[in-house]
Amino acid sequence: MKNITKITCIGAGYVGGPTMSVIAQKNPAIQVKVVDLNTARISAWNDEDLSKLPIYEPGLAQVVQEARGRNLHFSTDVAGAIAEADMIFISVNTPTKTYGKGRGQAADLKFIELCARQIAEVATSDKIVVEKSTLPVRTAEALKSILDNTGNGVNFHILSNPEFLAEGTAIADLHAPDRVLIGGEHPEAIAALAQIYEAWVPKERILTTNVWSSELSKLVANAFLAQRVSSINAISELCEVTGANVEEVAHAIGKDSRIGPKFLKVSVGFGGSCFQKDILNLVYIARSYHLDAVANYWEQVILLNDHQKMRFAEHIIKTMYNTVNGKQITVLGWAFKKDTNDTRESAAIYVADHLLAEEAQLVVYDPKVSAEQVYRDLDSLGSRTPADNRRLVRVENDPYIATANAYAVAILTEWDEFRSYDWERIKKQMKKPSFIFDGRKLLDKIALVNLGFHYYAIGE
Ligand code: NAD
Ligand code: UDX
Repeated sequence: MKNITKITCIGAGYVGGPTMSVIAQKNPAIQVKVVDLNTARISAWNDEDLSKLPIYEPGLAQVVQEARGRNLHFSTDVAGAIAEADMIFISVNTPTKTYGKGRGQAADLKFIELCARQIAEVATSDKIVVEKSTLPVRTAEALKSILDNTGNGVNFHILSNPEFLAEGTAIADLHAPDRVLIGGEHPEAIAALAQIYEAWVPKERILTTNVWSSELSKLVANAFLAQRVSSINAISELCEVTGANVEEVAHAIGKDSRIGPKFLKVSVGFGGSCFQKDILNLVYIARSYHLDAVANYWEQVILLNDHQKMRFAEHIIKTMYNTVNGKQITVLGWAFKKDTNDTRESAAIYVADHLLAEEAQLVVYDPKVSAEQVYRDLDSLGSRTPADNRRLVRVENDPYIATANAYAVAILTEWDEFRSYDWERIKKQMKKPSFIFDGRKLLDKIALVNLGFHYYAIGE
């Protein structure tokens, strides 16, 4: 079996950065280089001040501190890092296509293809190429074709090794994964990759499959997880009209060991860079094989999620006497979930956009998201001019300043700190009646009602 001494990872993002940091931490004898075209991102990964790492993840800074400079390196020299590596992970972004065939559904593989062409051009020794990015089933075939037809005659073995970490718990997930999945055809290449994980993952948790099962399993895992969220969110609407309580229902059904308690937390809608993108991709693949019933089934998970975000925004407007024009609504939480600074596809963006269409005045506070990011997210929707977004939205970095004079507070991310605020103080400085719209069912209803708030929680 080939002894791996040098690993390169192309893509220093939310997956490449934390994953390679843990691989380096657990394999001190292997030199790990993470490369990216984005020079600002690489500088941030190299910053002496660990609070400036480009990604906020609990526990990440300690892992980087332990391995960086020893056997973990961040660089913009992509070609050099490819040339010297025995094993190359591709961990670049695979967003939904915004143009051409498959626009709005298919995964955009242009970054993947660029990586393959660069690897082929630079490599002068045999390489194991690992798909770490989430890819449509049968992408490995295209990769192999590019590598073999444009390369320098060296051998490439392609493996699929999708990543299952969730943001906010990435380090804990990487340290103790439920499973590591390796898809491949070449036993020696599979063994070489498995050995790296065996440094800390029990052997029985390392699953091997053929490449296509591995690629497809990643899309399916995300589709099943998102489906659970859409299922409980669908039931939340039914709870609101029947007097049932969605948390009690989730608890009751979750006790059934066949259903299980996880991923049944009601919300204003799932967000994040993966769920929507991967389901759309699954839908696109099913349709491309003319499997319309399959495609329609999974598409419903997304349609329900869109409905959940819109009905939450609509409920705010309806409750505030059918007009929010000129009224200050304070949005607490902009990230797509707690413990991350990532805002990709966050429900907050879409709820805010809907309220802004009604000319609400929004004030946003999130403990980890910058004002620039909030404006970038709103501008990228193209619903109104950047100037109008800045006229209608203010971003504050103190929750008490953010809530002063508000007609309503909308909780859109489940940050723990929101629970411990002095809500009595907040109540005093808000307009009356003071509304709270809790999209995460996070706060203590009885305490807030006793303080005189008009409190609405999703699913109750
Ligand atoms: P990201 O956007 O945070 O990072 C990708 C990085 O790749 C960017 O920094 C970009 O500059 C870089 N890049 C793109 N093309 C490049 C090239 N040719 N050469 C060098 N660098 C290049 O994306 P991410 O969230 O890390 O996701 C990466 C992949 O992992 C995606 O396929 C995603 O679906 C998958 N994934 C993500 C998560 C998650 O929680 N974010 C979890 C599991 C899987
Ligand atoms: C997801 C998958 O969990 C992970 O395995 C995969 O590798 C990447 O995609 P991530 O998107 O980072 O991870 O976070 P996750 O915890 O899955 O949450 C996704 C969204 O669903 C968030 O907006 C979250 O708030 C929401 N959610 C999750 C709920 O609304 N209710 C739940 O019960 C769980």
